Amino acid sequence: MKRLSYIALVILAIVTLASTGWAQKAGVIGTHHDVGGNGCKSCHAPHNGSVATGGASQATGKILLWDRDFTTQTFGTYSSPTLNNATTEVGASAPTATDPRLYSFLCMSCHDGVTTPSVIGPTKDEAVGNPTNSFGLQNDHPVNMNYDPTQDSGLAAIASVTAAGLKLYGASNTVQCASCHNVHNDSISPFLRKSNAGSALCVACHT
Ligand code: HEC
Ligand code: HEC
Ligand code: HEC
Ligand code: HEC
Repeated sequence: MKRLSYIALVILAIVTLASTGWAQKAGVIGTHHDVGGNGCKSCHAPHNGSVATGGASQATGKILLWDRDFTTQTFGTYSSPTLNNATTEVGASAPTATDPRLYSFLCMSCHDGVTTPSVIGPTKDEAVGNPTNSFGLQNDHPVNMNYDPTQDSGLAAIASVTAAGLKLYGASNTVQCASCHNVHNDSISPFLRKSNAGSALCVACHT
């Protein structure tokens, strides 16, 4: 009987965790991403793309109902002699709705420190992609490259990366900003998909 109620408690805990877990979009309310108290509309427009918030283009709404002007910057790419999965440019042109780089490109609507400087100023640490003040994306953890353990034997199996709650995007399993970050939830600060205590986030991919 005791054992049964213990099992029931565990099941209840799992169900509760699943329903309040990191996937919930409402977690964004009250965080830095609830820009000016605009909630979801800080980033998504139900209609008319960025024009809905004084931007210039309705076309942005074709990409995840985006409610911001798109960046027009070129960010450059990280490289090194030991890098096996080469990175490709995130910016320069708007992605199509199915292009995996949009999971980094959209962050640059604010985090390039150029496109909406009223939201994140050019010299702030948060302007990680700023092309003139912080070397664009050349001095940041690489993004927009394949996650392919056959190219780099130091990488964990794809199944264990996704089991750790991290996300890889597109048919060739690319790493993007949103692989490590959950834009909608700051419960593991700063907007992380997995705590990096004891470098747990890093070693989920780099064994
Ligand atoms: C700071 C900007 C920002 C805010 C605010 C925001 N989102 Fe998002 N949203 C994004 C980005 C970037 C993506 C793509 C990356 C991803 O999937 O995490 C996305 C993806 C999505 C998706 C599609 C992907 C999925 O996981 O299903 C939905 C649906 C969504 N958001 C709904 C919402 C809702 C509802 C709110 C408000 C409660 C909200 N978003 C607030 C930036 C934002
Ligand atoms: C609508 C604009 C907007 C978009 C789009 C956006 N952010 Fe942010 N983000 C902000 C603002 C504003 C801050 C707070 C900056 C400050 O403290 O000055 C912030 C802060 C952060 C922080 C730091 C939080 C902390 O506590 O230090 C992270 C990490 C972050 N954003 C990641 C992302 C990622 C990843 C994406 C894309 C998937 C994204 N953001 C998209 C506006 C945005
Ligand atoms: C490989 C995982 C990973 C990727 C990919 C990644 N980040 Fe981060 N990011 C982190 C971690 C971990 C921190 C916390 C660093 C710390 O505490 O010093 C962080 C911190 C930040 C911060 C807070 C300010 C700062 O400089 O510490 C911002 C803003 C941010 N990331 C945005 C982004 C954006 C935008 C992208 C895509 C271009 C991105 N991140 C890609 C892991 C990642
Ligand atoms: C989502 C998986 C993922 C996470 C999480 C992750 N990385 Fe990476 N990282 C990669 C991939 C993939 C590469 C490209 C490796 C290659 O192909 O050589 C890379 C490359 C790097 C490189 C450049 C290697 C070189 O040869 O130039 C460094 C350094 C690095 N990561 C450090 C970190 C640190 C530190 C953390 C934790 C904050 C982290 N990574 C978290 C996937 C990840």
